[in-house]
Amino acid sequence: MTDSSFAAITQSAIDSMAKAPNARLRDVLSVVLRHLHDAIRETRLTAAEWEAVIAFLTRTGETCSAERQEFILLSDFLGVSMLVDALNHASGSGVSESTVFGPFYAGRQPILPVGTSILKRAEKGASLRMRGTVRSQDGTPTSGALVEVWQAAPNGLYDVQDPAQPAGHLRASFETAADGSFAFETILPVSYAIPDDGPVGDLLQALGRHPNRPAHIHFMITATGCRPLVTHLFIDGDPYLESDAVFGVKSSLVVRPQRRADGSLAIDYPFTLAGAAMGQDG
Ligand SMILES: [Fe+2]
Repeated sequence: MTDSSFAAITQSAIDSMAKAPNARLRDVLSVVLRHLHDAIRETRLTAAEWEAVIAFLTRTGETCSAERQEFILLSDFLGVSMLVDALNHASGSGVSESTVFGPFYAGRQPILPVGTSILKRAEKGASLRMRGTVRSQDGTPTSGALVEVWQAAPNGLYDVQDPAQPAGHLRASFETAADGSFAFETILPVSYAIPDDGPVGDLLQALGRHPNRPAHIHFMITATGCRPLVTHLFIDGDPYLESDAVFGVKSSLVVRPQRRADGSLAIDYPFTLAGAAMGQDG
């Protein structure tokens, strides 16, 4: 087969979508197809290699369950999640920076009173008081914002990965007060390995990459009139800040806990949300 007949296959596949009623779907898939076909031509992919790709994607789908999202993990580990995030969230405008959503959100949790602990069992770990304020971009405190938080236990696992943990352990929702503040008690998060017992873990190993993420707490903040913010706070000094397995670290999100008089740790962080009209996804 000649190079021009290879190109004809690609063009036929793209032309087949010409009458798609959804123009955006057609345009995006046309670009994806062009790059995918180019990649296959450029690498002279073998039939066995393509079978391996399909087997990998099949396993990725089969690994997904109500508690596990291997495709989000795949997207994170390929840097795709961070690229989509970077394209859709302007930085440098005084708005708090976003990062990956990750695969371990477990749905909205009950709203707890301000200052409550998010632990559902005792853990060995340094006590940490997390306090934050939520403001809109013009500096107005955002009252009644929903602040959802989740973090891994000291064994490096989220409750949804670990049957030994009580459901809802180390995750909760809070509502900001009139001055935009919220607070909760927790423990200092630890670095952890992303699940490496599935297809994404096999790929990590095949690529000689480590599976570790620097210690962090997840936040999703939603307020009327503002764009939702999905982000983390990372702990300064973590050995994996420079090599996060999912490329999620931004320097504005790295915080150094302060030592309090009683020896416990505290983080205070000001969150600023963009106005609802900013960006593409409102
Ligand atoms: Fe996480």
